[in-house]
Amino acid sequence: MTVPAEGLPERVTIYEVGPRDGLQNESELVPTDVKAELIRRLLTAGLPVVEATSFVHPRWVPQLADAEDLMRLLGDEGRDLPVLVPNERGLDRALEHGCRHVAIFGSATETFAQKNLNRSLDEQFAMFEPVVRRARDAGLDVRAYVSMCFGDPWEGAVPIEQVVSVGQRLLDLGAGQLSLGDTIGVGTAGHVAAMVDAFAAAGMRVDDLALHFHDTYGQALSNVQAGLRAGVTTFDSSAGGLGGCPYAKSATGNLATEDLAWLLSGLGIEHGVDLTALVETSTWLATHLGRPSPSAVVRAFAG
Ligand code: HMG
Ligand code: MG
Repeated sequence: MTVPAEGLPERVTIYEVGPRDGLQNESELVPTDVKAELIRRLLTAGLPVVEATSFVHPRWVPQLADAEDLMRLLGDEGRDLPVLVPNERGLDRALEHGCRHVAIFGSATETFAQKNLNRSLDEQFAMFEPVVRRARDAGLDVRAYVSMCFGDPWEGAVPIEQVVSVGQRLLDLGAGQLSLGDTIGVGTAGHVAAMVDAFAAAGMRVDDLALHFHDTYGQALSNVQAGLRAGVTTFDSSAGGLGGCPYAKSATGNLATEDLAWLLSGLGIEHGVDLTALVETSTWLATHLGRPSPSAVVRAFAG
């Protein structure tokens, strides 16, 4: 039943990261044609944005080493799908395939910058600067992720001011949207509200923020509600709740897109996703991965 709550946005953009964040942690290589079909099915199910892959070093993320082949298989359809690019080499590869949306991914902490990017926290900005400048000059749209916003497995608590400072520096480089990542899923609702408020107090537009929750402690949906109340209208999620980060100890699945869509529908918030088609897609993918989806909504539909 749909029962709208007061003071929430009318419409939300679900930013699907399953083909990238969902698959990047899978140890068994998923065939490229299965990835292409997954992306097509997600688009058909009404997802407005589907992040396709990463142009990172293939040794760092072997599962996504087929980024070129995937873009070739997707053809024109692939050009409008965002892809991750950490550096100029990644941008060159994305440009060769006509990609129009790229995402850089920064870290709020020193340790994760080293582990994920082989750079210090400060050095990451020097790596991103030419990427954003050249991408913007070429007319591309640039998103910036910030990881470890709500806690870091090596450093523990991460001061909100530190996250705001990293986010501000990425926006200052010219990124259009900032996605705040709870990479290891430790955040809770009050922390989310305080984080969004701190960005707003520092002069950044809440409209430029997206929230990216992993569901390690089962808090992702509660955190989405805190984000909605704070005025955020873009949420990242992964079909079937797949996901994790190969360079973050204890990072587990992303918030499942099905769970997010169920919550939004119940609140009367438009999102445009056909939940039945999406559940069918996650169930189909689970047969390829050899294990059931961890999403409660996928399990409920299947049962
Ligand atoms: P590096 O080893 O410091 O790279 O890695 P380098 O600049 O020293 O270059 C070394 C060699 O790699 C060179 O080749 C380069 O050409 C090559 P050589 O001259 O030795 O033959 N190289 C590349 N090849 C292909 N594509 C490239 C590329 N770059 C360099 N793009 C680097 C630095 C950033 C490349 C590496 O650390 C890397 O690839 N990291 C990616 C890690 C990753 O993908 N993590 C997961 C995504 S982040 C995430 O999941 C979090 C998120 O979901 C949000 C959240 O949950 O918080 C987004
Ligand atoms: Mg992630």
